[in-house]
Amino acid sequence: MTDIFSGQIFSGQTGALIGDTFTQAAQQYALTSPSSGKEIARVADCGVLEAHQALEASIAAFATWRKTTAYERSSLLRKWFNLILRDEQSIARLIALEMGKPVTEALGEVRYAASFIEWYAEEAKRVYGEVLPSQFGHKRLFATKHPVGPVYAVTPWNFPAAMATRKLGPALAAGCTVILKPAEQSPLTALKLAELWLEAGGPQGVIQVITCSDPVAVSGVFLDDPRVRKITFTGSTEVGRILTRQSAETLKRVSMELGGHAPFIVFEDADIDRAVQDVIACKFRNAGQTCVCTNRVYVQRNILEEFTAKLSVAVAALRVGDPLIASTQIGPLVDAQGLAKVKAHVADALTLGATASVGGHALEGLFFEPTVLSGVTADMLVMREETFGPVAPVIAFDSEAEVIAAANDTPFGLAAYLWTKDLARAVRVTESLEYGIIGLNDPVPSTAQAPFGGIKQSGFGREGGHWGLDEYLYVKYVSMAL
Ligand code: SIN
Repeated sequence: MTDIFSGQIFSGQTGALIGDTFTQAAQQYALTSPSSGKEIARVADCGVLEAHQALEASIAAFATWRKTTAYERSSLLRKWFNLILRDEQSIARLIALEMGKPVTEALGEVRYAASFIEWYAEEAKRVYGEVLPSQFGHKRLFATKHPVGPVYAVTPWNFPAAMATRKLGPALAAGCTVILKPAEQSPLTALKLAELWLEAGGPQGVIQVITCSDPVAVSGVFLDDPRVRKITFTGSTEVGRILTRQSAETLKRVSMELGGHAPFIVFEDADIDRAVQDVIACKFRNAGQTCVCTNRVYVQRNILEEFTAKLSVAVAALRVGDPLIASTQIGPLVDAQGLAKVKAHVADALTLGATASVGGHALEGLFFEPTVLSGVTADMLVMREETFGPVAPVIAFDSEAEVIAAANDTPFGLAAYLWTKDLARAVRVTESLEYGIIGLNDPVPSTAQAPFGGIKQSGFGREGGHWGLDEYLYVKYVSMAL
């Protein structure tokens, strides 16, 4: 394995991948580490010129890639999966360096990312068609599946590896080509994955990575061109809405994985110690910068005191620090804007009467203390907007009906969680929650073979499993008269 680090200095790929060449655009932008604040790389800052080059290369590559057999695509994906695992330590350090996820957690992300490639390497061979019975003796009816075409994929910084592979795996398995635009804050992981794709023998133009500091003009090139048949986006609801609107002109296939505001409901019969550990896993992974992490912890009133005390002890014990150190559990926020939002949400809650039983303050640089807020009410910002930080607001509830109404009282519908040992209640509440993903006594439900996605303002379309593959396929119906 070649190491791309010497201390905190990055010496790997920083050019955009256009065709089969990593190219430095006319300009570069400075990438800084959120933990040290220091510049770690200068990355190609692509503009419309590079976007047009990538577009033409993607269209050219699609003409041949679509004709490869599922077995060929499967075999390439499998090789890529093995290379990602070969370099897992180095990719984990890259994630920690560029966006601040603690390296041990980042290693988990790399394996999670690789699992999408493995799963879709297998699933590529299972894109079946159907033969339909006809009411006419002289007709035969077939429905077959085909790749939708070149795809524009826009991925976020919070999972720089997994959000890329969750799109690339199914798209490539289906026979689509992909132009990937990673977030401005985390382009290096995407470039490293692309490098490994080429090492696996991936043909030129099938995956391209367009890095840039200002995505508006670059995205416009792909969104305006009718030959790009699909856009897939993971990110904020606000940006998702703009991209959906822009895609309407050329009627692209659209998948949107947008924001969430996940309730985490703890009923009086739950195993309190386990529920506390699960809040830590659900809320504090990636310093709370995860679309599916909980934003509101509802606790039944008669266990509120015990639960909050235990949660406060567990949160106070979290180790905040350098994400490149293996024992660190909480790294920095990704950037100044992210930190400002966390500070504003906590200040608003404290002003409106909440108390911080632990944390509540910004630390040096982009770090914020892991925080538990008690006495939280529905009018506070933390209850309405995604905080995207290490802050757990705890709210008391009395009845099942009351907490279901509160949990559903949000424009979002991505993930919701509940803790109970009562089977009938588990079924009742699960059926009443208006969300795309439910964690029933499970704080981390995401996995490659399962559908991931939301309803309402959390978007539409699904990633993962066979649902994720269908997003990149269209159905062709053939009616044959004998
Ligand atoms: C996300 O935050 O969008 C991804 C989280 C996950 O896959 O669990």
